[in-house]
Amino acid sequence: MKEDVEMKVAVIVHSHTGNTLSVGEKIVQTLVSSGHDAVLKRVIAVDERPEASKNVILKECPAIQDEDLLIFGAPVRGFALSPVMKKYFSSLETLSGKAVECFATEFFPFAWMGGNKAIKTMKDICEEKGATIKETSVVNWSRKDREKKIEETVTKLCSL
Ligand SMILES: Cc1cc2nc3c(=O)[nH]c(=O)nc-3n(C[C@H](O)[C@H](O)[C@H](O)COP(=O)(O)O)c2cc1C
Repeated sequence: MKEDVEMKVAVIVHSHTGNTLSVGEKIVQTLVSSGHDAVLKRVIAVDERPEASKNVILKECPAIQDEDLLIFGAPVRGFALSPVMKKYFSSLETLSGKAVECFATEFFPFAWMGGNKAIKTMKDICEEKGATIKETSVVNWSRKDREKKIEETVTKLCSL
């Protein structure tokens, strides 16, 4: 984050059961309390049931505006990125010149159980669309030290 300069940030999340959303909210709160112009935007499918993930149609599809930084958050589904977030990315024409950070939440305790793959997918797509990736993080929901990891994630993504 540029020191003492207000940045415009959009935290764009897909979240079905609220885990990813709760981390996104903490990121926004932290950025706002540091004086940045940060907003949370949600990606939402018409049918949010996980079993309806084959032909995703989006109901909420946040447009990219003049943000300095985009932070994308998504859950892991089937050891990969949530299909709803994948669909959202495919709807974006360009991320040229954008700074981007990504985080994923997953149930299982280790990032290699889907989190790393979801991050790699987000990173690859964003770079292909012209973005520069700054920071990434995975939160493993079933870990005892989850709260610590959430704090670390928030600190890392808010302190560029
Ligand atoms: C259909 C489905 C598949 C999932 N697959 C995985 C998985 O492969 N690995 C994992 O760790 N968690 C998996 N999860 C758990 C979610 O990633 C985890 O609960 C996540 O934090 C949910 O985020 P949300 O509350 O923002 O929707 C799966 C959940 C669902 C519903």
